[in-house]
Amino acid sequence: MTIRTAVSFVACTVFAIVSASAWAADEFDRPPINYRDSSPDNCISRLQAGIDSGRQTLTFDMEHGYLKAVLASLSVPVESQMLVFSKTSLQRHRISPRTPRALYFNDDVYIGYCQSGDVLEVSVVDPQLGTVFYTLDQESSDEPRFERRIDNCLICHSSSRTGGVPGHVVRSLFVDASGQPLFSAGSRTVDHTTPMKDRWGGWYVTGTHGSQSHVGNLITRTKRVYEPVDNSQGHNVEDLSKRFRVSHYLTSHSDIVALMVMEHQTLVHNRLTNASYETRKALHYEQTMNEALGNEPGHRLESTTRRVHSAGDDLVEALLLVDEAPLSAAIRGTSGYTELFAKSGKRDAQGRSLRDFDLNTRLFRYPCSYLIYSEAFDALPAEMREHVWHRLWEVLTATEPEKKFSHLSASDRAAIVEIIRETKTGLPDYWTSGSGD
Ligand code: HEC
Repeated sequence: MTIRTAVSFVACTVFAIVSASAWAADEFDRPPINYRDSSPDNCISRLQAGIDSGRQTLTFDMEHGYLKAVLASLSVPVESQMLVFSKTSLQRHRISPRTPRALYFNDDVYIGYCQSGDVLEVSVVDPQLGTVFYTLDQESSDEPRFERRIDNCLICHSSSRTGGVPGHVVRSLFVDASGQPLFSAGSRTVDHTTPMKDRWGGWYVTGTHGSQSHVGNLITRTKRVYEPVDNSQGHNVEDLSKRFRVSHYLTSHSDIVALMVMEHQTLVHNRLTNASYETRKALHYEQTMNEALGNEPGHRLESTTRRVHSAGDDLVEALLLVDEAPLSAAIRGTSGYTELFAKSGKRDAQGRSLRDFDLNTRLFRYPCSYLIYSEAFDALPAEMREHVWHRLWEVLTATEPEKKFSHLSASDRAAIVEIIRETKTGLPDYWTSGSGD
């Protein structure tokens, strides 16, 4: 590429990103979402309130700044650490294969850390607003402050990659020794449906996975990528210490199971946001139309039902891991994340939990997302929640399930229903009494 074409390529890319996000910001800033002007209420705003009132403190340390304190205050396990070395995010000048970016997460919040970074980056599930973004300066302060960020995050965190809402992104691409992506070799958005062979380009991956291939731990030394990709040095890696200085991080892992859970979770979080936005937008439109047409308040428009069903069905498919990429060999992590994740699951009388792993043929033993216990799920508008419960019931109790749900055997479906019945509060009556409709 000559310098001139390189410059125009960058200009086009920036233009494409900016125009996409300008559209998005505009859309969310209007009623009923009011993304920019509404006050967030999530675990970060609550932590900030605790800091402001003196109930909570964050201790700064010279090595990692506020990272450890933030993880501890939010109960985000260090075992969730994942390391990404592609220059694909905010502090890209800090990121390379020798200085990867570390990400940590729990069911509600994701934290990004760069060595010598100016800020910690945070994306959090806000039950009303969807994904909300913050930065925390990595400088010792008497009054540490999470600053809400909008435009400089949505530029990448709101696009077709996130399903058109402010959301989470996971990418896989080929990266050179400086961390620069080879965009000409393609890139993909990753979630639980992505075949293993296409995952983790630009990420470190620790863990074993038998003969299954992937493109993690891979640095491309040529200007082009030739198929089939030889990543024999990148498979079944349990020790990263020869690749970069692991002692600069809280742990030496980039756990394969944590990665897989995150890829499931980000998809569900984005679909939850979409389900909430779509319902509220449809109801808002309905109210405006009813007023304009002189209909009774609350008159249900067909378009409202259609929009709720469509976004709700998408959410249910993500919750039930439709089209999940199959595993052909056992997956084992290295950091202890697997045990920790499963341990906190609510269990039924038989000891079963939606947080139990399978990790031999698929991710979860009972493929229905544990995010049904999350605050964001419970905060879905009533119309959406009703539809999602109804659809889940329909799928899980069908005599002959639709083809897209055929990955769930009759006994899987019965087990999921039983676990949910015993562990989830606020179910519709027909869930607990046993008969549909
Ligand atoms: C240049 C594009 C870009 C910008 C700008 C950007 N991000 Fe990201 N972000 C990404 C990508 C891509 C990922 C996926 C992991 C990776 O490749 O590093 C990501 C992942 C994250 C994650 C991990 C979980 C998630 O939500 O996907 C957090 C947290 C995060 N970003 C926070 C922020 C915050 C806060 C801002 C704004 C202050 C921001 N990002 C701005 C591209 C960007």
